[in-house]
Amino acid sequence: MQSKHIKVRVYENKEISIGIFKLTIQGSFEGKPGQFYMLRAWDKQPFLSRPISIHNLDKGKIEFLYEVRGEGTEFFSNLKKDEFIELLGPLGNGFDIDSIKGKVAIVTGGIGIAPMYYVAKQLETCEIEFYAGFRDQVYLIDEIKDFANEIYVSTDTGQFGHKGFITEIFNPKKYDIVLCCGPSIMMDIILRVCKENNKKVFISQENRMACGIGACLGCTCKTNSGAKTVCKDGPVFSGEDVIIHA
Ligand SMILES: Cc1cc2nc3c(=O)[nH]c(=O)nc-3n(C[C@H](O)[C@H](O)[C@H](O)COP(=O)(O)OP(=O)(O)OC[C@H]3O[C@@H](n4cnc5c(N)ncnc54)[C@H](O)[C@@H]3O)c2cc1C
Ligand code: FES
Repeated sequence: MQSKHIKVRVYENKEISIGIFKLTIQGSFEGKPGQFYMLRAWDKQPFLSRPISIHNLDKGKIEFLYEVRGEGTEFFSNLKKDEFIELLGPLGNGFDIDSIKGKVAIVTGGIGIAPMYYVAKQLETCEIEFYAGFRDQVYLIDEIKDFANEIYVSTDTGQFGHKGFITEIFNPKKYDIVLCCGPSIMMDIILRVCKENNKKVFISQENRMACGIGACLGCTCKTNSGAKTVCKDGPVFSGEDVIIHA
C-alpha cells in the first residue's frame, strides 16, 4: 500500500464527547486497521505534523477520532467544514487481521479506543469481547456494540461501569488472543498478565513522533529483537518483542 501526501477538505469535525472529536474526510482512502496518517492543518507552526490512527474507513470516507491534548489537536478541533487539511499515509504496519482468529479480547484505555473500532469492525469471523477504560466520560460504546459480543467498561470515577482501572476486570484466560491500545502503564500490565498466562498479545504504541516515515529515527525504541522505529516497524508490536517496564 503506497502512502500519499494529499491536501483535502474537511467534511465534518464533530465533538462527540468533551474534548473528543471525530473528523470525517470524504474521498477514496486506503489503510489497514492499526495504521495511521500524519495530519497537518497549519502552515509553519507547530513544526511537526501529528500522527492520528485510522478510526474508520469506508467506501468514500475516512474518519479520525482524536483527543485535544495540545497545540496541534487544538488546531484540528477548530477546523470547519470545507477547510483544508494535509494527510500523509497510510503509515506503519497495522494489525495482521487475517492471522487473528478465535476468541479475541480488545483492551483500550482512553483515546486508545480510536484505532480499535476499525480493528473490531474488520475482525468479522472472530468472537470479540471489548474492554474500554475511561477517566470519567464514556464514548463510542454504542458503536462498538455492532461488532462486540460483550463489552466491559470502567471509569476512574465510577460514573459508568466498574470503578477503577480496566486492567482490574480483565481476565486473559478466556481468550485466544489479546489486542491492546492505551497508556503505556496500562499496556505494560496487559503485557505482563498475558505473558503470565501464555496468551498471544499485540499492542499498538502511541509514542511521540516527528517524521512518521522512518527517516529521523526519533521514535526508535528498544525491543527484544533489536531497535525498532514505532512509525515504520510499528506501531503494532507482538508482546514477545516488547520490553515490559512495569
Ligand atoms: C501511531 C500513533 C497513533 C495515534 N493515534 C491517535 C488517535 O487516533 N487519536 C488521538 O487522539 N491521538 C492519537 N495519537 C496521539 C497524538 O498523536 C497526540 O496526542 C498528538 O500528537 C498531540 O499533539 P498536540 O500538538 O495536540 O499536543 P502537544 O502540544 O504535542 O502535547 C501536549 C501534551 O500531550 C503530550 N503528548 C503529546 N503526544 C503524546 C503521545 N503520543 N503520547 C502521550 N502524550 C503525548 C505531551 O507530552 C504534552 O504533555 C497517536 C499517536 C501515535 C504515535
Ligand atoms: S518518527 Fe521519524 S523515524 Fe519514526
